[in-house]
This record gives sequence, structure tokens and C-alpha cells, in this order.
Amino acid sequence: MTQHIAPQITQIPKHIAIIMDGNGRWAKRHSLPRYLGHQYGLHPVRTTVELCAKYGVKILTLFAFSSENWLRPPKEVRQIMELFFRSLKGEIRRLQKSGVRLRIIGDRTAFSQALQERISQAEHTTEHNSTVLLQIAANYGGRWDITQAARTLAQQVQAGTLQPEAIDENTVANALAFTDCPYPDLLIRTGGEQRISNFLLWQLAYAELYFSDLLWPDFNELEFIKALEVYASRQRRFGKTGEQTATAPK
Ligand code: FPP
Repeated sequence: MTQHIAPQITQIPKHIAIIMDGNGRWAKRHSLPRYLGHQYGLHPVRTTVELCAKYGVKILTLFAFSSENWLRPPKEVRQIMELFFRSLKGEIRRLQKSGVRLRIIGDRTAFSQALQERISQAEHTTEHNSTVLLQIAANYGGRWDITQAARTLAQQVQAGTLQPEAIDENTVANALAFTDCPYPDLLIRTGGEQRISNFLLWQLAYAELYFSDLLWPDFNELEFIKALEVYASRQRRFGKTGEQTATAPK
């Protein structure tokens, strides 16, 4: 149920994607080891899922671990994997209670067998929930996504089930990591940097971008509302002119 909406928020994005950046700097600022930054990063994950339910955002996609994050020191990679493993179990009751469906997007074949099983269990347990779809991008990269789609289509061409001239944008879109929900309307990146970092490259083509100086563990409801207000103030033109968009039927 949507409640407490500020008057400036005249339209709510259906799908928000977030690059959760700044855990390491937050830990450093508090004289803590980096992994505690990631651990504290779980709090705003919970809060943001609740905020999506509260404000009527139906899909939330979080960038938790990129294809390039394997290049971090092995200890940090291990600690992030352990956190992921623990939270997949620890958060299930909360997700069930709030009706949140969980889906992991990315190349899960690189994960341990135990982690892959836990992911499947969590997805299975929550599959009938419909308040919010929470997509966690783990071992995900936009280039990986487009590459795996190209490979799938090449296999179909080789098998004779797809003609090369039949490939259009829809064919490619249907081979990407998720196909059953709209693309992000709004991308939020915390941590003060202004880049996309190989996140959803195809899917973010028309997303509005909001960059926050807050470090991810400090992300909160006020900042979430600010992002919603900025989103509502933007005119989305999808390649058309401002005049065409202003006169288009709603
Ligand atoms: C980026 O901050 C953050 C990550 C690579 C990990 C994100 C993980 C979490 C928020 C943990 C909880 C989430 C789930 C879904 C279990 P950084 O380390 O790059 O920060 P820095 O730029 O300050 O170094």
C-alpha cells in the first residue's frame, strides 16, 4: 500500500536500480575494517526494500557484487560471499513477512555449490510473493549480460531455430538476465561517484540518474524521498521532443 507521499512526488518509478557504493569509505571513516562496512550495508538494504513497499515501487534491483569485484583482495571477496550466504538465510523470514520476492541475477555458476543451493532455495521460498520484486545482481556485469544473450542467440542460429535476419531489439532483450519486468525508471548511485560501472547497460538506456553523496550505509528514507522527488521533476522524453512529451496523453 502506498502512503505518506510528499506532494512533490507526482509519479513513482515502477523500478529502481541502485549501485550501493561507499561501504569501504564508511568503514574507514568509522575506523572499522572494510567488511564491517559491507555488514552495515545490509541495514539500508532492508530499509530500502521496506521503503519500496511503502511508496509503491514494485521492483528494486541492487548491485551487490560485480563481475569485476573478484579482483578485490581474496579476504574481502570471501567476506562478501559469507555475508551474502548468511543473509540469504537470515533475511528470508523478513522477506516472507513483507511479501517480497527475491531473484538473483548474474552468473551464479562461479559461486560455491552451497551458495548456489541457498540462492535457489531463497528464490523458491519467495516465488509467490508480489509486494516487491527484489533483484540482487551478484557476479553481474552489463557486458556479461549482453555477451551471454549473444551466445544464446548464436546457439539458436546454429541449431536452426532462429534466422539471423529475425534478430531485432526484442530478440536481444528476451535473452537478457531478466525478461518479465520493466527496465529501471530510476538509477540511484550512492558514494559520490557519477558512473554506471558496468551495471545494467542495456536496461538503463532511458533511466533517470540520481547521484547521492551519502555513503551506502548512511542511505536513508530522507535521501530516498529526495531521489523520488527529483525523479518526479524530470521530463522523460524517450527520444521525442519536450513538446511532444508534454502533449502526449497520460
Ligand atoms: C561497494 O562499496 C559495495 C559492495 C561491493 C558490496 C555491496 C554489498 C552490500 C551492501 C552488502 C549487503 C548486501 C547484500 C545484498 C547481502 P565499496 O566497497 O566499493 O566502497 P568504497 O567505494 O568506499 O570502497
